[in-house]
Amino acid sequence: MAFTNPRSCLLAGLAITALTKAADFQEASDNDCDCFVTNGTDPHYFTSHKFYDFRSLSEHANVPDSINNPEDSSSAPLASDYFKKSPWTDQWGTQTWNNSGNIQEGEAKLFMVNSASNVYIEKNRDPNPASDTFLTLRTQRMDDFQSAAEFESVPMSYHFLSARIYARTIGAKGAIAAMFTYRKSDDPNLVQEADLEIRTIDPPDTIQYTNQPSFSRNGDTVAQATQNVTVPRSWEEWSVHRVDWHPKATTWYVDGQKVSQIAFQTPRDPAQVIFNMWSEGTAWTGNMTRGEAAYMQIQWIELLYNSTGDATTNSNSNVRHELEHSTKLAKRKKDKDQCKSVCSVDESHKIGTAVLVVNDASSFLGGSSPLGLVATFWISLVALFVMV
Ligand SMILES: *[C@@H]1O[C@H](CO)[C@@H](O)[C@H](O)[C@H]1NC(C)=O
Ligand SMILES: *[C@@H]1O[C@H](CO)[C@@H](O)[C@H](O)[C@H]1NC(C)=O
Ligand SMILES: *[C@@H]1O[C@H](CO)[C@@H](O)[C@H](O)[C@H]1NC(C)=O
Ligand SMILES: *[C@@H]1O[C@H](CO)[C@@H](O)[C@H](O)[C@H]1NC(C)=O
Ligand SMILES: *[C@@H]1O[C@H](CO)[C@@H](O)[C@H](O)[C@H]1NC(C)=O
Repeated sequence: MAFTNPRSCLLAGLAITALTKAADFQEASDNDCDCFVTNGTDPHYFTSHKFYDFRSLSEHANVPDSINNPEDSSSAPLASDYFKKSPWTDQWGTQTWNNSGNIQEGEAKLFMVNSASNVYIEKNRDPNPASDTFLTLRTQRMDDFQSAAEFESVPMSYHFLSARIYARTIGAKGAIAAMFTYRKSDDPNLVQEADLEIRTIDPPDTIQYTNQPSFSRNGDTVAQATQNVTVPRSWEEWSVHRVDWHPKATTWYVDGQKVSQIAFQTPRDPAQVIFNMWSEGTAWTGNMTRGEAAYMQIQWIELLYNSTGDATTNSNSNVRHELEHSTKLAKRKKDKDQCKSVCSVDESHKIGTAVLVVNDASSFLGGSSPLGLVATFWISLVALFVMV
C-alpha cells in the first residue's frame, strides 16, 4: 500500500468507524484531500472523487415519447441539453447500439435497440419528493423490438473503485437494471465484469451479483462467479447501491449493509463503468409484455476511484483536459507516496461532499461540540501514531 502501512490503515479505519457518531468533521473540497478512505470492514484508499447530481435539474426535465420503430429509436435525439454538454459528456456516453450480433448468434431472442430517448431527466412526482428531479433509464417492449437504455463512462481506465448510486427500479417484469464495471474482450470468456443485476421478474428483495464470466466455454454455469442475494430493502424503494471493486474481491452494499462479496475472478484490469436497463427475451431476462415498460431511476452517482492511463471512448478536448488534470493530480498524490489529508464521503452529512477525517497529524479538526472535540482528539492521536 503506497499511502500508509496496513496497520495504520486499520487503525485509521477503526478510529473512523468507532468515532463516527461523535465526530462532526470539517467539510473539505476534493482538492484538499490527498485521498479518500471508504468505510466498512475492508477500508480502501482512492485518489479521486466525482459526484453526478440529478436532483435539481428541472430546466432539463423532459420525458420523450416512446418510439415504435427501431431505426427512429436508434437515431432519436438526446432527451435534453443536459446530455449535450459538460459535466455529462465529460463522463458519460449515451448509447445507441443494438443487439443484432447477439440475435445472429442465437443468444438473444428479441431485437433490442438502445435509444437516447430512453435516458432522460424527469420530475420527481413522489409524495413528499426527496428531490426535484432524477435521471431515468427506460426500457419498453415495442411491437417488434425492445427499446432500451444505456450510458457508459467515457474513461476506460478505472482501476479499482467504490461506486454508489441512490436509485430505485420500478415497472414491468422482464427487464434487467444493471450497474457494472466492464472490460471488453473479443473473447467472451475473457471479459472482466463486476455486475449488479436486478431482474424485474425476481422478487423485489433479491439482487444478483456477479464477477463475470459466469458461463464456462462449454456453457456451464460457474457457480462461484455469482450470488443471488436477499437484500434488506426492496429495489423498488430508493436506496444506496454500492459496489467496491478492490484487487482481492468485489463487495456490494445496500444502504450501507454488506450484502455480497465475491473474491472469485475479481476483475484485474482497468475498466469502464456502465449503467443499463434492457431485456432480450431470454429465459434469464424474461420477456416483457408488449407496450409495458420498466425504469431505473437515479438521484445521484458518486465515484471514488483510482485510474491508470488515459484511455477513453472519446477524443473530446474537454474530456482530455479533465483527464490530464486528474491524472496529474493522482500522480502528484502518488509521488508524495502518502496520504496526509484523508477524506471520507461516508462520514459527511452532505451527500457528494467530502469531510476531512485525518489531517496532517498535528491539527485538530472540526467538532465544536465537546464530543466532537474528544473525537477529533482521538483521531489526531491515531494520526500521530500513524505518522510515527
Ligand atoms: C489507490 O491508489 C493509491 C495511491 O497509489 C494507493 O495507495 C491505494 O492503495 C490504491 N487503492 C486501491 C484500492 O488499489
Ligand atoms: C443495428 O446495428 C447494426 C450494426 O451496427 C446496424 O447496421 C443497424 O443499422 C442497426 N439497426 C438499427 C435499427 O439501429
Ligand atoms: C434469485 O432468488 C429468488 C428468490 O429465491 C428467485 O425467485 C430467483 O429466481 C433467483 N434468481 C436467479 C437469477 O437465480
Ligand atoms: C458507511 O457509510 C455509509 C454511508 O456512505 C453508511 O450508510 C454506512 O452505515 C456506513 N457503514 C459503517 C460500517 O459505518
Ligand atoms: C420471448 O418472446 C420471443 C418473441 O416473441 C420468443 O422468441 C422467445 O422465445 C420468448 N422468450 C421466452 C423466455 O419465452
